[in-house]
Amino acid sequence: MPMQPWFTDAKLGIFLHYGIYAVDGVAESWSFYTGEVTHERYMKQLDGFTASLYDPRAWADLFARAGARYAVLTARHHDGVALWDTAHHNLDVARDTPAGRDLIGGFADALRARDLKVGLYYSHSDWNHPDYPSLRPVQPGDVPPSRFSHAEPGAEDPAAWERYLAYRDGQVGELVDRFRPDLLWFDGEWERTEEQWRMRELADLIVAGNPDTVLNARMLSHGDYATPEQGVPLRAPDGPWELCLTVNGSWGHRPDDRDFKSVGQLVRYFTETIGLGGNLLLAVGPREDGTIPSEQTERLEGLGAWIARHAEAVYGTVAGLPAGHHYGPSTLSADRRTLYLVCFDAPREAVSVRGLRNAVRRVTVLGTGGELGHRVTGGLHAVPGVTWIDAPAAEDLDAHATVLAVELDGELDLYRGSGRG
Ligand code: GLC
Repeated sequence: MPMQPWFTDAKLGIFLHYGIYAVDGVAESWSFYTGEVTHERYMKQLDGFTASLYDPRAWADLFARAGARYAVLTARHHDGVALWDTAHHNLDVARDTPAGRDLIGGFADALRARDLKVGLYYSHSDWNHPDYPSLRPVQPGDVPPSRFSHAEPGAEDPAAWERYLAYRDGQVGELVDRFRPDLLWFDGEWERTEEQWRMRELADLIVAGNPDTVLNARMLSHGDYATPEQGVPLRAPDGPWELCLTVNGSWGHRPDDRDFKSVGQLVRYFTETIGLGGNLLLAVGPREDGTIPSEQTERLEGLGAWIARHAEAVYGTVAGLPAGHHYGPSTLSADRRTLYLVCFDAPREAVSVRGLRNAVRRVTVLGTGGELGHRVTGGLHAVPGVTWIDAPAAEDLDAHATVLAVELDGELDLYRGSGRG
């Protein structure tokens, strides 16, 4: 299926890991899997999950201020606690926590009211479902199997596995029919093979409900885009992609994690990602009551303010220059006639672009409109010279990253050779 254009044009999404793990501020699902806390203590958090200040409209306003065009909410993480009142019940916040209601419908409505696309995260695995640990590991993986994920030797139960798949299909079908997500963000795929997951049947079910649903790569061969996690790729993955990244070091709410990225660092992550043609899916962890800590909202707003000043270089653009032409990331307008050069530090004398075959018509500083002089030195026959752009004046510099809009005489035309004229 061709990628939905809204996705590649969106550039920024917000990822929300919202669940009972926020009650004690422990790692989402993993904390009982790895034994960081006992299963009993983890499950005790069900009694403390209130969503008492949950205001999805305030979330949507914040995401819009951040410049995001979509958001992805954990409808059900590996701990199996569904955030909606599911007809395929094992655990859900409506029946099993004081929150006592569906939390997804309001989220979807609030996003749509702000013109944001709706993404729902769903874990294939459910470490709390009695039928889930019914198969043995097929191949050794990075994560050691546990009693929550796999059966003991001799205790496999194929009938239980069939029941589990029916439960998963029931829940996913319900999400598609009821909330019509624009994007389904799967996870937890590493514990089974594509065949064991019956991935094709699952993809068919989603497409039958809504053929426009975007699927991430954790649908294995049925995914539409790659999902590098926590680190900027050095080369763009093939096809559409999205980097998921936490604002501090945690997916969910962990008050002792103070390791926040600065707004300046987030601007770098963001521009490096879109410069390689990807989206950034930036993760925040709401408290159990549904509020988002100020350290996270401030950073989203800081990134959003930078994006608002530089929107033309962001939305609807495509990947910019390959490494080596300019010392920093860049993007390119959809018509390929304007290049946006990102400069992190204050250029001193000039910004140089190498290998540019086009003549430059005009260079301006995005946001302030200041016009900059430019000229070419060198070049012989097919090998272009260097395009020098005068350094912007101090008052035209942005605190995080200055963007120069370079208008070309035609579509971008690059020289990629080794210089023998
Ligand atoms: C990993 C983790 C999970 C987190 C996800 C986000 O797969 O299992 O806890 O939700 O990354 O990408």
